[in-house]
Amino acid sequence: MAPRKLAAGNWKMNGDLAALDQLDDMAAAAEGATCDVLICPPALLIHPMMARIGASDLLVGGQDCHHADKGAHTGDIAALQLRDAGATHVILGHSERRADHGETDAMVRAKAQAAHAAGLTAIICVGETEAERDADRTLDVIATQLAGSVPDGANARNTVLAYEPVWAIGTGRTPTLDQIAQVHALMRDHLSARLSDGADVALLYGGSVKPANAAEIFAIAHVNGALVGGASLKAADFVPIIMALD
Ligand code: G3H
Repeated sequence: MAPRKLAAGNWKMNGDLAALDQLDDMAAAAEGATCDVLICPPALLIHPMMARIGASDLLVGGQDCHHADKGAHTGDIAALQLRDAGATHVILGHSERRADHGETDAMVRAKAQAAHAAGLTAIICVGETEAERDADRTLDVIATQLAGSVPDGANARNTVLAYEPVWAIGTGRTPTLDQIAQVHALMRDHLSARLSDGADVALLYGGSVKPANAAEIFAIAHVNGALVGGASLKAADFVPIIMALD
């Protein structure tokens, strides 16, 4: 089995009911596509999104989950609740969660275990800051995040990894193709050493992906798709990215 290609959109804290109008063209692009197409909207929009897309091939995901099944955790969402709402995936350990909410590798690992137990695919994010890259620490940082964030129960069916350099997110800047290739090769080696099907885990790149650079990024070895922020908000931007991957 080869890694399954995935075009994933992370709407972050953007979008409202009117934004769901964008889904029609995205759902049409997902129909018959060889890659999977996923939108992770704010949690409040998951139910109306499910109603809007009906039986479409478009997949729906969450942007975070708690590590516990249920309980007194005001403001949090359980993986089982995401699953109940129709989600198939959940983004975990995004650098904005790590920075804004102090999420550690251990917390991300616990959330991934909860996602797996709930039947969700965990999209586990890793990435270096600009200071870490400038200090030539990128590969060490990624290796540490992988070792700490990916649980032992991970496999190609329940886990996707996303490499997102923090300094490339929402900035219009991207690493060189060689730099992306270097980190993706590290991720593949890490997974292949740890998991029996590590060669089949999908690896995404994220950080200022847009229609103009998608094809060259998707041509890099071990890049099996993208985690797209800003360019996933509008069908006019996201559909060409899906096409470039497909
Ligand atoms: O989750 C998505 C990433 O943070 C990338 O965001 O495409 O707006 O740079 P961006």
